[in-house]
Amino acid sequence: MRTIKDRKVVLVGTGSVGMSMAYTLLMANGIDELVLIDVNEGKAKGEAMDLSHGLPYAPNSKMVIKSGGYEECKDANIIVVTAGANQKPGQSRLELTAINTRIMKEICEEIKASGFNGVLVIASNPVDVLTCVAQEVTGLPHNQVFGSGTSLDSARLRFLMSDYLGINPRSIHAYILGEHGDSSFVSWTNCYVGAKSLLDYIDEKGKDFNDLLDIYKEVRDAAYEVIELKGVTNYGIGLSLNKIVLAILNNEDIVIPVSAYQNGEYGQKGLYIGVPAIICRKGVKEVIKLPLNEVDQGKFDKSCESLKKVFTETAL
Ligand code: NAI
Ligand code: LAC
Repeated sequence: MRTIKDRKVVLVGTGSVGMSMAYTLLMANGIDELVLIDVNEGKAKGEAMDLSHGLPYAPNSKMVIKSGGYEECKDANIIVVTAGANQKPGQSRLELTAINTRIMKEICEEIKASGFNGVLVIASNPVDVLTCVAQEVTGLPHNQVFGSGTSLDSARLRFLMSDYLGINPRSIHAYILGEHGDSSFVSWTNCYVGAKSLLDYIDEKGKDFNDLLDIYKEVRDAAYEVIELKGVTNYGIGLSLNKIVLAILNNEDIVIPVSAYQNGEYGQKGLYIGVPAIICRKGVKEVIKLPLNEVDQGKFDKSCESLKKVFTETAL
């Protein structure tokens, strides 16, 4: 187990997403050192100063927050990358592929050169594609590189189902699977309320399955709606990334839906895509294989194909 003093995280990308995660980590009292890297060095320095000024009132007043360069990566436990262009209203995540692949390659070359050998977490979009790029460029073991994947989508699903059922979201066990994007889906036969099948529960309550389909559409379209309304999404992903970072640092062995490398668990190999996985201090400990029926397996395969198509079209 790591001593409390060596919990160091490097954040690359100090924009809306990165700084939402940074602030959440500070308030969660989860880490001892946070280093901010950004191509806009002034932004990184300003964010580090601003966060540091609040330390006397923070849970861990001795936390070190500073801006710096990639030399800070070598002894870091975790690097989180949130750098890159974000979606404009109506733009899909996949439309960011070209510009953000270039940025991700630049960043990951620097990470590789630093000698980093911790866990690399990618949030930049399209996250499944960029996580693959990050692993290929850094050459880190597949389990040490993963993306936030459908962790945010699954939180949205659990929140909306909580509101619909009047049950605490922590008692709703449900995942969005596949691409963090338009080809994602819910395997309803693998959703539970406590230890009870969700489908049995709504049947007993006389609720309409079509309401669940409407909830999924709300999840799928949530980012587009929030971006239309406020320009970005940042708090939900900030909290998702905080959950992931603490799961790694505390070696929690907790199941989180993330963009994990596929080794055939779901019949697919050689790509990253959203599946439930056990997260520990080394990254992905194990991909959890859910029993997918024929329809859901078809949706999973279709989502994988849409990501593979990006690689062939963009010649990544
Ligand atoms: P932002 O524009 O607020 O911040 C991006 C930051 O990246 C800027 O500070 C910029 O200077 C920096 N940057 C750009 N190129 C860089 C480079 N080569 N090296 C280092 N830093 C660089 O954007 P925002 O809203 O924070 O979104 C960031 C990314 O996160 C986008 O790709 C967005 O789509 C993605 N995102 C992913 C989510 C998920 O669930 N995976 C949810 C929300 C956003
Ligand atoms: C989201 C996008 C921005 O899900 O990835 O919020």
